[in-house]
Amino acid sequence: MRLLVADDEAMKCLSLAQDLTAAGHEVVTCEDGSRALQLLRQQQFEVAIVDLRMPGLDGLQVLEQSRAEGIAAEFVVITAYGSIPVAVEAMQRGAFDFVTKPFHNEQLLPILRRIEAQQSDRALQTGRTDGSPAEDIDLYLVGDSPPMRRVKELVGICAGNDRNVLLCGETGTGKDLIASVIHRCSARRQAPFVKVCCAVFPRDLMASELYGHEKGAFTGAERPRHGRFDLAAGGTLYLDDVDDVPFDEQIKLLRVIEERVFERIGGTVPVSADVRVIAATKRDLLQRIRDGAFREDLYYRLNVLRIEVPALRDRLDDLPLLVRHHLDRIAGGQRVAVDPEAMDQLRAHRWPGNVRELANTLERAWLLGRGRISGADLALPPPGAEPAAQATAGDLEARLTHYERDMLVKALAATQGNKTAAARLLGLKPSTLRDHLARHNL
Ligand SMILES: Nc1ncnc2c1ncn2[C@@H]1O[C@H](COP(=O)(O)OP(=O)(O)OP(=O)(O)O)[C@@H](O)[C@H]1O
Ligand SMILES: [Mg+2]
Repeated sequence: MRLLVADDEAMKCLSLAQDLTAAGHEVVTCEDGSRALQLLRQQQFEVAIVDLRMPGLDGLQVLEQSRAEGIAAEFVVITAYGSIPVAVEAMQRGAFDFVTKPFHNEQLLPILRRIEAQQSDRALQTGRTDGSPAEDIDLYLVGDSPPMRRVKELVGICAGNDRNVLLCGETGTGKDLIASVIHRCSARRQAPFVKVCCAVFPRDLMASELYGHEKGAFTGAERPRHGRFDLAAGGTLYLDDVDDVPFDEQIKLLRVIEERVFERIGGTVPVSADVRVIAATKRDLLQRIRDGAFREDLYYRLNVLRIEVPALRDRLDDLPLLVRHHLDRIAGGQRVAVDPEAMDQLRAHRWPGNVRELANTLERAWLLGRGRISGADLALPPPGAEPAAQATAGDLEARLTHYERDMLVKALAATQGNKTAAARLLGLKPSTLRDHLARHNL
C-alpha cells in the first residue's frame, strides 16, 4: 500500500519508513501536520500514520480536515502514553486505529493488514477500476532503459492473462514491486494481493501458513485458521523466495497449483483455490534443481511466463529517473539538489543491493545533507574499494578513515549530538559508535 508517515521525530520517521518499506509498502514521510495535509491533497495514499502531537497542524486536525475534504486515506494515529483519551477521540472522528508511544514498528503491521483486507473487500463491492494498465505500469515502474522497457512490456503481457509468473532477479531489483503491479493491472485487481515470504517460515509452519488448519489439527491449534490461499481467494498469491519452500512441501504446492484445490491441515474437505500465482527467486532455480533442492515439475509449472528483472548496474541509464523518483518520495515532493559529483559517484557504484540500496543511500544522504545530495553524504565506497580496482591498501585505508570521520560528524550534526539517534542513523550499535567517536577524537 502507499503510506504517509507524519511524525516530527525525524529518526522515528526514518525507521518507520525503512521497516514499512521492508514489509512491502511504499512510504512517504513528512515531519509536520500542514505538510501532511498538503501531501494527502496532492497524492493518493491508502493509509496515513500520523503523530497526534506535531508542529503546524496536529494529527487530529489533519484527520478532521481530510475527512471534511473527502480524502479517502485511513488514519492510524500515534499517541503518547498517557494521552489515550485523545486517541479515542480520534477513533470517534474516524481514525482506523491507534498505537501508543513508545511502540515497535512491527506493531503497525497487523493494523495495516486489517486495512488492506477491508479495502479489498470494499473494492470488490464497489467494482472500482483504476486507470489504464499501461499508464499504471509506467507510473509504478520507473525506468526507460531498453532492459526496463522490455520488463514493462512483459508486465503488460502478464497483467493481460492469468498464467503463473516467475520473477527472477537479484535482491532489491523490484520483484515485489513488479508482482504487485501485475496484480494491480490484472483482471484480479479488485481481489486481494497476498504475499508469502517463503524464507521466513520454519518448515513445520509453512503448510499451516499456506493452507490454514482446522481446530485441533496439531498441538496449539486451538482455533481454525485460514491460510494464505484462502486469503488470496479470487486474487493473486505472491510466493517470494519460492526456492525456500522445503522440498517435501513443494509437492503439495505443485498439486494446489495444478489442481486448484487444497485441504486445510487436519481437514478433509477440499477447498477450491482460485488464485493466480506469482513466484519470485534470487537464485538460479535450474542449479537448485541440479542440486536436488527444487522440484523440476514445480519449476515448469511456475515458469509459464518469466521476467528476468535486470540488475541496476545493467540499466544505469535509469539512474536519473530513479534518483528523482526516490528523492521525491523521500523529501515528500520538496526539491532536492543533487551535486554533479554525487551523480558521478552514483554512476560509478556497482549497486549490489540494486534499487533498494539506491533508495536507502539517497535517504541517508538526504538526511545528512539536509536537503542537498553531495558526494560525501552518499558515503559510497570510493571506486578504489571495489574489487576490480587497482588501489593500494594505504590509499583505501586513508580514504575510508576520511569518509568515516565525515559520516560521524554529519550524523551527530543531523541528530543534534544525540548519540543514540546517530548510532541508529548510521546503522551501528551505540557501543560501536562510541568506539568510532573515540578513535576519531570526536
Ligand atoms: N523500477 C523501479 N522503480 C521504482 N522503484 C523501484 C523499482 N524497482 C525497485 N524499486 C524500489 O526498490 C525497493 C526494492 O524493491 P523490491 O522490494 O521490489 O525488490 P525485490 O527484488 O523484491 O528484493 P528482494 O529480492 O530482496 O526481496 C523498493 O522500495 C521498490 O519500490
Ligand atoms: Mg522481494
